[in-house]
Amino acid sequence: MQKLVSFSKRRGFIFPSSEIYGGFGSCYDYGPLGVEMRKNIKDAWWSSMTRGKDDIVGIDASILMNPKIWEASGHLSAGFADELVECKKCHHRFREDFVKDKCPDCGGSFTKSKKFNLMMKTFVGPVEDDASVAYLRAETCQGIYVNFKNVMQSMRKKVPFGIAQIGKAFRNEINPKDFIFRTREFEQMEMQWFCPPKDADKFFEYWLKKRLNWYYDLGISKKNLRTYEVPKKELAHYAKRAVDIEYKFPFGWKEIEGVHNRGDWDLSNHDKHSGEDLKYEDPSCAKATAGKYYPYVIETSVGVDRSMFTFLAEAYQEIEGGRGKNAKKEMEIVLNIDKRLAPVKVAVLPLVKNNPEIVKKARQVYDLLRADMVCLYDESGSIGRRYRRLDEIGCVSAITVDFDSLEDDSVTVRDRDTMKQKRVKIDKLLEFLS
Ligand code: GAP
Repeated sequence: MQKLVSFSKRRGFIFPSSEIYGGFGSCYDYGPLGVEMRKNIKDAWWSSMTRGKDDIVGIDASILMNPKIWEASGHLSAGFADELVECKKCHHRFREDFVKDKCPDCGGSFTKSKKFNLMMKTFVGPVEDDASVAYLRAETCQGIYVNFKNVMQSMRKKVPFGIAQIGKAFRNEINPKDFIFRTREFEQMEMQWFCPPKDADKFFEYWLKKRLNWYYDLGISKKNLRTYEVPKKELAHYAKRAVDIEYKFPFGWKEIEGVHNRGDWDLSNHDKHSGEDLKYEDPSCAKATAGKYYPYVIETSVGVDRSMFTFLAEAYQEIEGGRGKNAKKEMEIVLNIDKRLAPVKVAVLPLVKNNPEIVKKARQVYDLLRADMVCLYDESGSIGRRYRRLDEIGCVSAITVDFDSLEDDSVTVRDRDTMKQKRVKIDKLLEFLS
């Protein structure tokens, strides 16, 4: 875990937020490589959940919404709260399920537990009174439910269909911990599938399988992924059934995604609280009233940050003694990440930096590629050292421009995983790399 945290900082993936001010309670900033990798994760999810399907469309709802939404969804009541104990001596607070009988900070005893709501409060407008209270959304899906009718009508959708969204969510977690695993500000990728109640079980299985395959396809090994059927008494207030997809992190098996059958909890409650009829009228039924019902919702919900942690943990490899015949017998790090998720796809390396002709050619190659793919230019250090630096960040291909390139207009392309090298004509490079 410590290795991943320091690697992430050293190589520009993840920095502690506000670091020069001593940091800020479990907030993290994504650096230049982190931001590219997150974008790739989101693109992979978006294309699997929307572009690849003609029955799912996307939205982007606002983070601040009418506070009545959170009353209707049940998030302002006891259901969306942690049980909290306070140390009688140092007054530090902890989640009851995270501590034993004594305070881990001073050994003091605890008060009885109290409920602590997780919604993040703010004020909208110039006056900070009860009437101006608003909340930062705690899950992105509520923005989907309240737009159910808008989307259905504007896109002429018929049940079953889905709505997908990627966006930030906020929870005032008492014990944020484990790096980017549990934070107060995070990003979710959620898809809500609206279906007839009788088909909910069938679609639950379908989506669970589809989501598991998404991880396998992007390189997560089967031995590190498992499912956990959440027992009835532990279900969230909205859920009829929930299965967590868990990953084997350095600190144990933990949830990275939830697949939920939310029944008609959300649509029926928003109908009741807003007065807007959110029932679906099945056009295939002869009598309109007989065919009116609240669709059930099957939800797939995953954190971008947790998936990023998962993909980093899976890909990070330390190879004692190095790789290949020219290994320096030092430990080498290789980020063996799926090529679609790799933050940098290609690097251009002039063999030497003091030959203007080679540098000029390398710059031309760099300019040719950078419009189409995330590309680095690196001229400092020996070629071997540069390769190792690139392997560390999972760069897929390294292109060396050498003395022969000046004669034959070809370059050497080295593959990160096999370390095999191939000579490719510069005018065929884009095609080859694609
Ligand atoms: N809409 C349903 C929902 O939000 P959840 O199980 O509370 O369900 C879904 O959250 C996913 O969101 C989790 O599996 C996790 O990936 C991510 N998530 C939730 N809370 C988080 C936190 N405090 N920090 C980072 N990710 C979080």
